[in-house]
Amino acid sequence: MRILVTGGLGYIGSHCCIALHQAGFSPVIYDNLCNSSSRVLDQLEKICGQRFDFIEADLLDPVALQQAFAQYQPEAVFHFAALKAVGESVQQPLRYYQNNVAGTLNLLQQMQQAGCQRLIFSSSATVYGNPQFLPLTEQHPLGATNPYGWTKVMAEQMLQDLCHAQPGFLAIALRYFNPAGAHPSGLIGEDPRGIPNNLMPYVAQTAVGRRPFVSVYGQDYPTPDGTGVRDYIHVMDLAEGHVAAYQQLRSQSGFHAFNLGTGQGDSVLQLIAAFSAAAGREIPYQFSARRPGDIAASYADAGKALQQLGWRTRYDLGRMAEDSWRWQTQYPHGLEPSHDSI
Ligand code: NAD
Ligand code: WQD
Repeated sequence: MRILVTGGLGYIGSHCCIALHQAGFSPVIYDNLCNSSSRVLDQLEKICGQRFDFIEADLLDPVALQQAFAQYQPEAVFHFAALKAVGESVQQPLRYYQNNVAGTLNLLQQMQQAGCQRLIFSSSATVYGNPQFLPLTEQHPLGATNPYGWTKVMAEQMLQDLCHAQPGFLAIALRYFNPAGAHPSGLIGEDPRGIPNNLMPYVAQTAVGRRPFVSVYGQDYPTPDGTGVRDYIHVMDLAEGHVAAYQQLRSQSGFHAFNLGTGQGDSVLQLIAAFSAAAGREIPYQFSARRPGDIAASYADAGKALQQLGWRTRYDLGRMAEDSWRWQTQYPHGLEPSHDSI
């Protein structure tokens, strides 16, 4: 019942370790700490009552991967480890292709050598590029608008090709919409270094007084209130979606892709309002220009995951805001205040 969790100390991977533990699996975390803190292990121990095994190593290190497979013989890999900042990927494309594409390739080669044939992959709704229709179904054509997005498209392609060549292999690509919120304990949550790129952590840091106001990027989109619309999904719903996918498909093979979203879109102003209600205070914001590369709206058709995995989300935007706020107030500067450069 051991699962190797790459990137398991990061935002989504750490929440998934809790869901795995609750479902009776034993996560073994493999992370190089490039965007996380080893203190997450202590927090997970407080939540789960058990200290998970942790290997501090890089995906790009084949020897460390080989040793991890030899020592733990995991029945599957949940692969979260990646770099994820869209703007940074435009500035440093080769670093992103190296880490995310070559890292995934390395992992797959070591899985093949070790005879481990099941992978759950963190994909993203970014693989749909500019939506041609909404809601987004898994059949929507794939593409990307930045190097980060291409790393996800390329990794999915590798998985499809491998499944074709190696009939016993199972690869499940989970295409996340916009993960938000935190574990209800408030002991772990999203802990970005420097200035957050994503909306909810930015709003949370504004609510707690670390930022003076939220810049709302664009007020003239063709959406009900003119601001961007996204499908925010609670990180614990997302985590449970991984476990559902694995439990449902673990005895199958081939490539499978699923959207993990709520199916509902909310605007920037709706998110700010939900957070104000959760925090019990006004959150200052100012309208500014559209952010280059942003799309007006994105939300999932979540029907395939419901039909084939029996999984649906449980938490709404208000709950995401409440849980994010609890984490933010308990750890206003994250678990490693020294990481908080600005
Ligand atoms: P995160 O940065 O919090 O977690 C990623 C973890 O992977 C970190 O702990 C980091 O230290 C580790 N890591 C990165 N490169 C590594 C390497 N070469 N070797 C070992 N460890 C490495 O990010 P997250 O938000 O938890 O995202 C997890 C996954 O989900 C990523 O693949 C990301 O692309 C994908 N995703 C995230 C979002 C989002 O908005 N957060 C949306 C869609 C998809
Ligand atoms: C949400 C909305 C912004 C910040 C990104 C990646 C995507 C995926 C998830 C990994 C948009 C607006 C934001 C701010 C704002 N990651 N906004 N002020 O852009 O949907 O997706 O993260 O796979 O690949 O592109 O998420 O949280 O950045 O933005 O007004 O300070 O909030 O314009 O409408 P996005 P986001």
